[in-house]
Parts: sequence; C-alpha cells; structure tokens
Amino acid sequence: MSVKVVATVPFDGQKPGTSGLRKKVRVFQQAHYLENFVQSVFDSLEGFAGATLVLGGDGRFHNRVAIQTILKMAAANGWGRVMVGRGGILSTPAASCVIRKFGTFGGIILSASHNPGGPDEDFGIKYNIGAGGPAPEKVTEAIYAKTRAIREYRIADAPDVDIDTLGRHALAGMAVEVFDPVADYAELMEQLFDFAAIRAALAGGLRLKFDAMHAVTGPYAREILEHRLGAPAGTVMNGEPKEDFGRLHPDPNLVHAHDLVALMTGPDAPDFGAASDGDGDRNMILGRDFYVTPSDSLAVLAANATLCPGYAGGLKGIARSMPTSAAADRVAEALGIKCYETPTGWKFFGTLLDAGLATLCGEESFGTGSDHVREKDGLWAVLMWLNILAVRRESVAAIVGAHWARFGRNVYSRHDYEGIDAAAANGLMDHLRGLDLAGRTLDGFTVARHDDFAYTDPVDGSVSSRQGVRVVFADGSRIVYRLSGTGTEGATLRVYIERFEPDAARHHLDPQVALADLIGLARRLAEIEARTGRAEPSVIT
Ligand code: G1P
Ligand code: ZN
Repeated sequence: MSVKVVATVPFDGQKPGTSGLRKKVRVFQQAHYLENFVQSVFDSLEGFAGATLVLGGDGRFHNRVAIQTILKMAAANGWGRVMVGRGGILSTPAASCVIRKFGTFGGIILSASHNPGGPDEDFGIKYNIGAGGPAPEKVTEAIYAKTRAIREYRIADAPDVDIDTLGRHALAGMAVEVFDPVADYAELMEQLFDFAAIRAALAGGLRLKFDAMHAVTGPYAREILEHRLGAPAGTVMNGEPKEDFGRLHPDPNLVHAHDLVALMTGPDAPDFGAASDGDGDRNMILGRDFYVTPSDSLAVLAANATLCPGYAGGLKGIARSMPTSAAADRVAEALGIKCYETPTGWKFFGTLLDAGLATLCGEESFGTGSDHVREKDGLWAVLMWLNILAVRRESVAAIVGAHWARFGRNVYSRHDYEGIDAAAANGLMDHLRGLDLAGRTLDGFTVARHDDFAYTDPVDGSVSSRQGVRVVFADGSRIVYRLSGTGTEGATLRVYIERFEPDAARHHLDPQVALADLIGLARRLAEIEARTGRAEPSVIT
C-alpha cells in the first residue's frame, strides 16, 4: 500500500461541542481541516489495528467527499475494516445500533444534526465509542489536545471506493464493507415494539403522517412505517434525503416543521403526526390539534412503557438532561425508580445506560431514547408512541390530558435567541453567574437556589462544571440559562422556563400565558434586550 504522510499545522477551534465538531462546510473544505481532525481522533485511540470502524452520515452536502477521505485515512492508519452505509447514509441511531450489533471498535458519524445543509451551511463529525454512544468528555478532550499538536496525517494514495454497491471492496489493504443502512435498525425496532398491534391499529383506521424533512430518516420511515407496518404510501412526506434538505431547516419543531403542523390542524387531520431531524435522532410528536412537548413525551413514554414488548419488564431508571422539565421525575417517583439529572448532550447518558441504572432517557430538545442504542432515536420514539396508541386506543390529547390529571403538569417552554453576538452572550452569562440572588424575592418568587449546574457522573466520577445557570424558586418553578454548544455562527442563548401546575382546571392554558410572569422575569434578570438587542426570542418551543 502506498501511504502518504502529509505535513500539516494545527487549526484553532477543533474542539468538539455538545455533539462533535460542527462548522460551516467552507471550513471543512479547507485543505487539511477534516484530515487534521480525523488523524487526531485516530491518534487519541489505542488498539484499533485490524479492527472495524463504522462510518456514515446524514447525507448532507460534503458527506460523500468526507467519506472517501476518511476511508483512505482509515486504511493508512491500520484499521482492518470499515463498514459504510450504502451511499454514505447512516442515521445516528442506526450507526449506534450497528456499532453495538457487530461489536465494532467504534464509529464516525458525519452530521450537523438539525442544522441546515448545503455549500454555505453546516457540516459535522463525531466519534462514537464501542458501546455505541458519543465519545465521553475525556475522549473528546484527548482528541482536542491532539488537534492542538498535530504535525502530520496519514492517507492512502488510492482511488475512491464505490460506496453505492453493497458488498466488500478493497482499499489499500483494508476491507470496505458497504451495507444496507436500514436493515439492522428495522430488525431491532421489530424486537422492541408490537408490530402486529400497530399494523392492526393502522388497518383499523389509525391515521398517521411522518415528516422526514428531506433528511436521513426518509428511507428508514418508508421501510418501517409503509412497508413493514402497512401504512399507506405517502404516509412519509419529504422522504427523499437531499444534500441541502430541500433548502429547509431539518429541525423537527413547531417553527421548522410547519407543513406537518398545518396538516395536523383541523377536524380532518390525522390522529398522529411526527417528524425527525437531519440525522434521525430527534423527534417531534403531534396529535390532532395537539403538540406534545418533548419533556412530556418522555414522561408519557415512561408511564406507559410496559405496554411495549421490549419494556414489558419495567424500567430500571430514567435520565433527563438538567434543562428538561421534571415531568419524568414524577413518573419515576410513582414507579419507585430513580431519575438522574445530567448535563445537556446525549454523551452523558452513556455511563448510566451501560451500568444498567437507566432504561429511558430524554432531553427537552426533541430527544428521547432508551438502552436499545446509545443515541437518541427519532423513529424509536415514534414507534413507541404508535405502540401505546395501538394498545390504549385513545387520542394523543386524551393520553396526555390523563397523564397531567394524574401527575400534574410541568408547564414548560424554551426560548432561543439565535445568532447573537458571542461576546454579548458570554457577558450575559457572566452577569447571571455574578448575581447574588439566593433568598431574594423577585416578582413574588422567592429564590431557593442560584447556581451554575455541575455534574458528577455517578458511574465514573467524572465532573462537568458550568453546565447552565439555574434560578430555582421556593415553589419549584425555575429559570435555566445556557449557551448552545452546537451552533456554528455567533452564539445562541437558550432560556428554559418551568412551573408545576397541579390544578387540572389550568392544564389547558397556553404555556406562554401560564408562564408569562416567569418569562418576563427571565428576560429582566438576564438583561436580554439590553445585552443582545433582541426583544423577542427567535424560536419558542
Ligand atoms: C442541542 C440540544 C441538546 C442536544 C444537542 C444535540 O445542544 O440543546 O439537548 O443534545 O443539541 O442534538 P445545544 O445547542 O443546546 O448545546
Ligand atoms: Zn440530530
């Protein structure tokens, strides 16, 4: 094999964020940029000679180019085999599934998740460990340290590999196995859920619509929902993956999935609607004229999990990210199991799942999942809801209404201020950290706790600090502020507002109304308008 050793110098800022390294495509297109990062990943790993790596992405612009580069670098660095999804396609949860099923050394996922794609948009890369989940912080820190010191990288001098034809190809002494990206994942879903019951419910008139947002879940949803479960053709909308996601923003929320939201409104709307993001790990759940917040979705799934074959034995525990509402905590309490509170980002759930401490996990950011893989999983959540609907034979609104009546409602909203000035955003966070609030009463709310969330992993003892400023009030209401770790331009401030409402007569109030006083307080406390120039958030979920 002919290997080129290419001299290089470090790039600034190759620090993996909440979910890997995300930058504009133009940044990744610079000579040596991707190569430096990939070599740094390999240099931070030990013992992979001859081992197998899984590789694929969400199909966005630059995916195919990056895959060829990574294949050649893997060959030059001594990997034995790379398993590539056909066409370079692999959803994030399917990548995790394949890493685990075949016991590979790890995997590389190419995605910028819900961020737009195209020549002027975003690209991303992350490394997943052999357990199937995103690399924990000690690994990402080691990778970052390597990017700061890199002097050369290794790449095979070989022609491109045909990644569109299934089967085994040779590349400079390494095997490249092109596999069907859907099959293993679909098989796993059939083991977890009662496909016969869902099929019967669909045949009996349950109507559903799934919006793949021109992103990676299209082929997965068509195979599972339309072919295996018998939903009518056309159930999956925007099912063709596109490099630029049809120039849309593949983020399943009320703003970006507006076509689906419109279809789910009115008396003739389907019973159930759902959408997934660029790389297939997020989900949004809708009923007819009804939106289920991700925090509530986690709680409802946990409360009904035993209706699904894969969870019939009950849950070991639940885990949620700190900014996610405490709705799941109430279910955990009723079930007599523990609820863990972690920093934002799926990587923090890995140790809990591996240790058998938690079965279900969720984040307020449209992420839900379980111990079946080590990533959040959009279609999995959709199938779990379908399984529950098929068994309970009630509407989405009725199921959530009954849930609130039993547990009370954690009224919740997240306000995002996107693309603000980074220095202003950091100044705002410093200002919040510096306030002296404990014991003070603000607009009638007494501050019980004011801190910057720090987390000690109960399994491996690792500590993560500065994970979000919390202002928690005596009645359990709270405001949380943090800066996004996934953006590629400027900064994004996220403000999370929550209040517990036990009174069922108030459960149907619009959260923006029910939370109006806390929302006003949140803005004033952080001096948002004065510091960022924004009077209103850009996205409310
Ligand atoms: C966002 C979400 C977070 C999620 C991540 C990856 O990160 O808030 O919950 O894990 O995307 O999907 P953030 O931009 O807030 O750092
Ligand atoms: Zn995603």
